[in-house]
Amino acid sequence: MASGSKNLDLINRLKAIECPDATYRPKDAPLVMERAKGSEVYDADGKRYIDFCAGFGALPLGHNAAPLLDVCSQYVSKPIPPIEHAMGDVYPSTAKIDFLETMKSCLPKSMAMGAVALSGGQSCELALKTALLKTKKAGFIAFEQCYHGLDLGVLPLTFRHDFKDPFSHWFPDAAVVHLPFNCKRETLKEAIRNLSSTSAGFAGVIVEPLQGRAGVIVPDDGWLKSVVDETHENQGVVIFDEVFTGFGRTGRFTYAEELTPDLVAFGKAIGGGFPISALFGTAETMSAWPESPGEALHTGTFFGHPFSAAVGAATMRAIRDQNLCHRSKALGRKIMSELQSWKISSSKIKSIRGQGLMIGIEFNELGFAAAIMNQARAKGLIVLPSGPTSSVLSITPSLNISESLVDEGLEIVRSML
Ligand SMILES: Cc1ncc(COP(=O)(O)O)c(C=O)c1O
Repeated sequence: MASGSKNLDLINRLKAIECPDATYRPKDAPLVMERAKGSEVYDADGKRYIDFCAGFGALPLGHNAAPLLDVCSQYVSKPIPPIEHAMGDVYPSTAKIDFLETMKSCLPKSMAMGAVALSGGQSCELALKTALLKTKKAGFIAFEQCYHGLDLGVLPLTFRHDFKDPFSHWFPDAAVVHLPFNCKRETLKEAIRNLSSTSAGFAGVIVEPLQGRAGVIVPDDGWLKSVVDETHENQGVVIFDEVFTGFGRTGRFTYAEELTPDLVAFGKAIGGGFPISALFGTAETMSAWPESPGEALHTGTFFGHPFSAAVGAATMRAIRDQNLCHRSKALGRKIMSELQSWKISSSKIKSIRGQGLMIGIEFNELGFAAAIMNQARAKGLIVLPSGPTSSVLSITPSLNISESLVDEGLEIVRSML
């Protein structure tokens, strides 16, 4: 087979069987991932890539990290291997209990109680249901360009119309108001007043403390606190969506270390690459849920899946014990200062923004980051565009990526400016 042809052949096989929307099929330099270790990925033709995306942020320790391999080896080495499915809401597994306790040990005391799900969208949905139960109201405020997942329960909250419009006839009356991210407190106050006067009423606010998919947008100092305060003054529930930012990505476990949300939705990083997510909240808010009479009010067949829970717990322990929040902050600062120096000499760059290892390079030209994504792939770098006009290049590598790989990846980006 000619060089590069295995990728192409596999993409064509996929095209023949998969829903056309499900996978991006680039015309040039197709990439089918086959193997990976740390922050290096190999495609089906054996070509190497540096990974600046880390599975959309779901691989804080990189690919095939030690915790995952340790859990795998437990399965093969013990005479009686650990449990692989534990009837989630009926009979828990030891792994789920360890997962929740480990998670709690990383969070501030106010985050007293949690519940698990599988994806980030599902943890946001759990947050919505909790707020609905607590307030008995149905109206939510979210922010322009926000992303909270694409499942139907959370789709009305997600901002982008290209994601929503084909399905909006399913939720015509969903009471969601979108305000500008960084809006004035007065604007929020007025929106809460208006929502409160409708039959839906005001249930709460859902906010990403730093908007990721929107193009790495950092709020002004003090803005998040004003959102929390105004919501609480109006008896609403404050939900932080930390599916992307949580567990080290922005240099902290959660913004609840500094502020007082009622609920925080987590996903991505807490599974170390495996599908598990969780909602944590204050005891008072989470107590809106009734005691399970034997059949939970909210569950799923695979909720708290023991294998995912075991990998997730080991991943969170590694983030905590290896102080990777600190590393994320320090390495992020170093990368941002390097990028700021590029900005001085490149007219293509409009701004550099981010916190920790959630970094965005905003370009002046719309669509430029999408073009870079494609060229970078050909040069051996996996990196994604973000923002509604694909003019921001997102850099979200694993928290333990080596500095030499960072330098090598940045050099590929620089060569395209
Ligand atoms: C902030 C935020 N919330 C929710 C989600 C949805 O997570 P998932 O794709 O795991 O459902 C994402 C995914 O990118 C996200 O960035």
